[in-house]
Amino acid sequence: MSTLTATTLVSRHSKTPSSASTTQTLINDDTPSTSRTATPNEHQHDQGVKCPVTGQAHGFCPAQKTDSRSPCPALNALANHGYLPRNGQHIHVGQLIKALREGYNLTLPLASFLAVAACMLLGQFRSISLYDLSRHNLIEHDASVVHADATPGSEYAPTQVMRSLVTRLIRTIGHERTDRMTLDDIANIRVNREAETHVLDKMHAEIARGELTIALGVLGGKSAYEDGADIGAFREWLVEERFPEGWRPDHKQGLWGTYRATRRVDNKMQELRAALAEKKKSVSREGSMCESKDSPAVAKL
Ligand code: HEM
Ligand SMILES: [Mg+2]
Repeated sequence: MSTLTATTLVSRHSKTPSSASTTQTLINDDTPSTSRTATPNEHQHDQGVKCPVTGQAHGFCPAQKTDSRSPCPALNALANHGYLPRNGQHIHVGQLIKALREGYNLTLPLASFLAVAACMLLGQFRSISLYDLSRHNLIEHDASVVHADATPGSEYAPTQVMRSLVTRLIRTIGHERTDRMTLDDIANIRVNREAETHVLDKMHAEIARGELTIALGVLGGKSAYEDGADIGAFREWLVEERFPEGWRPDHKQGLWGTYRATRRVDNKMQELRAALAEKKKSVSREGSMCESKDSPAVAKL
């Protein structure tokens, strides 16, 4: 059995306040930046895909103050690379489908399914901004892997990546295969995060499994579901919201292949949860045995 990280379960994270601004999705603490290039001076992006400073259509430029960004690393990276409007606003469903196909090589059925489902869940059929995606409990959900939960009562969840969650995520993965994130790792991450916050309803649990499973498939390449994906590349994409250095999609990521992989994750999650429940039971059995042994002593006190 792969490493069961029940022992890594920790108490619930302190929450960062939900951002009222539309931008600033990246970690903003004091750790050194791992950026490959210097960040350009503050500037404004318009609705176009070409950055006025870098001059490139698909070169990387991080979100600027006025840009709208989401809790989705994949869509933020598409905007940071100009596959979506760099300002992250007024995105039509057709634009979303095109960007998913060009940037990640998703098949038309998978890209259409994701884009249409997103508009339906948001109830926005004309256009969306990336920040709309952070509306809590529509698509966005609790127990995200690198984002804190929405504060109670707030309409929007944070779009900032939390460094402490990234660190923990990286520690949790790569046990099965050194330096590689696998489908079993995804199951492990999901079980741990939901144990920390709460178990998600069916729809959001499916969404949460899907997010990581598509990411693994896209970043890890053709054999990702057997061989995993490079953790360094995954981290770079997740944290910097940019395509990993040297990475290009090498296959078409389809609906059926993704669905089958999510079933494997789901099965593994059930296995892990059963093992966790068994472990808890045996701990409480041992506890009650100790208690019954202790009781006479306690009675004496
Ligand atoms: C129309 C397409 C898409 C939409 C509307 C969308 C939307 C979202 C939303 C709203 C979240 C926040 C969920 C949460 O954690 O609370 C999210 C997270 C995520 N998305 Fe996407 N997404 C799309 C496509 C993709 C693709 C193609 C990938 C992978 C290549 C991806 C990977 C992820 C990952 C890994 C997360 C988890 C972030 C975390 O847990 O902290 N998404 N997405
Ligand atoms: Mg969330």
